[in-house]
Amino acid sequence: MSFHPIEQAPGRLNRSELAVPGSQPQMFEKAAQSDVDVIFLDLEDAVAPDEKEQARKNIIKALNTVDWNTKTMSIRINGLDTHYMYRDVVDILEQAGERLDLIMIPKVGTAADVYAVDMLATQVEDAVGLTKRVGFEHIVETALGMQNVNEIAGASKRNESLHFGVADYAASMRARTTVIGGVNEHYSVLTDPAGDGSRQVHWGDMWHSAIANMVVAARANGLRPIDGPFGDFSDPDGYKAAAYRAAVLGCEGKWAIHPSQIALANEVMSPSEAEIEKANRILAAMAEAEAAGKGAVSLDGRLIDYASIRQAEVLVEKAKQIAA
Ligand code: GLV
Ligand code: MG
Repeated sequence: MSFHPIEQAPGRLNRSELAVPGSQPQMFEKAAQSDVDVIFLDLEDAVAPDEKEQARKNIIKALNTVDWNTKTMSIRINGLDTHYMYRDVVDILEQAGERLDLIMIPKVGTAADVYAVDMLATQVEDAVGLTKRVGFEHIVETALGMQNVNEIAGASKRNESLHFGVADYAASMRARTTVIGGVNEHYSVLTDPAGDGSRQVHWGDMWHSAIANMVVAARANGLRPIDGPFGDFSDPDGYKAAAYRAAVLGCEGKWAIHPSQIALANEVMSPSEAEIEKANRILAAMAEAEAAGKGAVSLDGRLIDYASIRQAEVLVEKAKQIAA
């Protein structure tokens, strides 16, 4: 292990994260009563320019009056390149800072962007006497943000999570797609022709390397990597497949852009009974091996060693966190 310790962000459950437009206050109660882990009330891309101010007011009122129970509450502020952003931070932290856990920063591009919001949030918190510090979630969704993702991840003690914003990322990369997340028939390989001349198409995951890159930056800085939106809410199987791909790469949550996606995210991002059982068997087998003076043994015909303990512990810890 490196001598460099990695400080972990607060251990919040973040399997599902529901996007709720700040301009749609009639949706707030239902969101509060859902099984989602984190809610972000949106001021950015789901809110039209004419509605930004009213959305901000709706959010302030709702943070102060709706019973959000134990939900982690976040707001997605407008981008740093807009004139809405400073008031999003100042007004909401000043007037509803007690119930706000996180600020989500869209289209973050550089570590200096994080510094700027940190400075603003610190001034407001100090001025109004808030003792708790609001955390930051960053959406990695531009070429610049991806280029600087490592510096962004380490730019503030407030940082808690990195999110892959696939829609804006596609736009920023000028990728040839107009769907939000999922796969693309043109990102595929053709097998060589078989004897009868037939060949198969295998679709690839065009977002693989971007998500994997973001996961590295997040984990190297003790942050939660979270996969972003999947636009086709009438395709639960497609959603689950995308969520599983993200989960096996290390993401611990995924956005829900529709309430029907909450249960899917919670299901995929929670270790299954079988996974937990297997993890516990690995831990038991390794404890036995260690007692017998061995560092590696076989379980079900496969090698396990000390790294297997660390893998198994991740799953067992997650299961405990969910059960708590
Ligand atoms: C999210 O903000 C996205 O652009 O996908
Ligand atoms: Mg976006």
